[in-house]
Amino acid sequence: QKVILTGIKPTGNPHLGNWVGAIRPTVELSRDPAKHGFYFIADYHALTGLKDAAELRDYTYQVAASWIALGLDPESVVFYRQSDVPEVFELSWILACFSPKGLMNRAHAYKAVVQKNQEAGEEDLDAGVNMGLYTYPILMAADILIMQSHWVPVGRDQQQHVEIARDLAQYFNRQYRAEVFTLPEALIDEKGAVIPGLDGRKMSKSYGNTIPIFTPPDQLRKLVFRIATDSSRPGEPKDPESSTIFQLYRLLAKPEDTEAFADEYRKGIAWKDAKEALYALLETTLSGPWARYQDLIAHPEELDRIFAQGAEKARDVASRTMREVRRAVGISH
Ligand code: TYM
Repeated sequence: QKVILTGIKPTGNPHLGNWVGAIRPTVELSRDPAKHGFYFIADYHALTGLKDAAELRDYTYQVAASWIALGLDPESVVFYRQSDVPEVFELSWILACFSPKGLMNRAHAYKAVVQKNQEAGEEDLDAGVNMGLYTYPILMAADILIMQSHWVPVGRDQQQHVEIARDLAQYFNRQYRAEVFTLPEALIDEKGAVIPGLDGRKMSKSYGNTIPIFTPPDQLRKLVFRIATDSSRPGEPKDPESSTIFQLYRLLAKPEDTEAFADEYRKGIAWKDAKEALYALLETTLSGPWARYQDLIAHPEELDRIFAQGAEKARDVASRTMREVRRAVGISH
């Protein structure tokens, strides 16, 4: 059985990028009995940036409720919170001892902050970088390696982190001449590799350009109407490929409807009408799951029960890996 694993950081309300990049593929994969799924909420990863206790708690429930509302059956996979598996943090230290500092200097999340500081003319290029952010990929590698993952479904922005996990697994296995860790690979759905946000850049909580999956209809409509478009007029032919509205539409629509929508673009659809069509599609796609989501959010005790059950199964696997890891490095308990 192949192990599939992925995580989502509870730093906000999950958005369409999270859905298409991580939630949707994992829901599909979780229905395949030949695969063993580990899906988790990366709550300690969120702490690198989020320092508000109530928000962290709420977002954790929201991410869990979204995943389940969108079709994940927590009974058929291991669904858990990262913080419930302390073995992950033990492994994280061990992997840190195998991680060249230069590898972290090249990691995206860190480089993005350095670049922002550079652009802002900041003297200290590391301003705002805490060690949690700097070593973020090591904790992520621990998440992945501790469950002996083969495949990690993620959006394009996380591909490098999965490659770092693979590198660290290789360094470790080579050092001890043993196959302690399975070598993981990123699984990227090309269709949803990078979902654009309202301004056309990658949809991301840190850019403030997201469309949350579960939003009241009037707010959803407002957000859709904020999507950036060019200045072409109604009647002027438009290129679907360069339009954020079209790219989002295509993610949710049937192929024949997408084709028809592309035709409308070539015939010169008005931006207003394109937005209306996208809104209608989002609304019909998400209204069913939304009711389920509301129900789950109203019953956090049910989510706690699900977390407790997942924690037990996750720790079972994690502690088995850790026994091998400790033996390999020469720490015996
Ligand atoms: P996070 O919480 O930023 O994002 C969760 C998932 O959503 C994908 N995603 C996108 N995909 C396409 N287009 C977008 N605009 C977009 N925005 C987000 C991400 O690629 C990701 O798959 N570090 C991870 C969480 C994590 C993790 C792990 C993932 C921690 N440990 C172990 C996999 C395995 C993160 O910050 O994801």
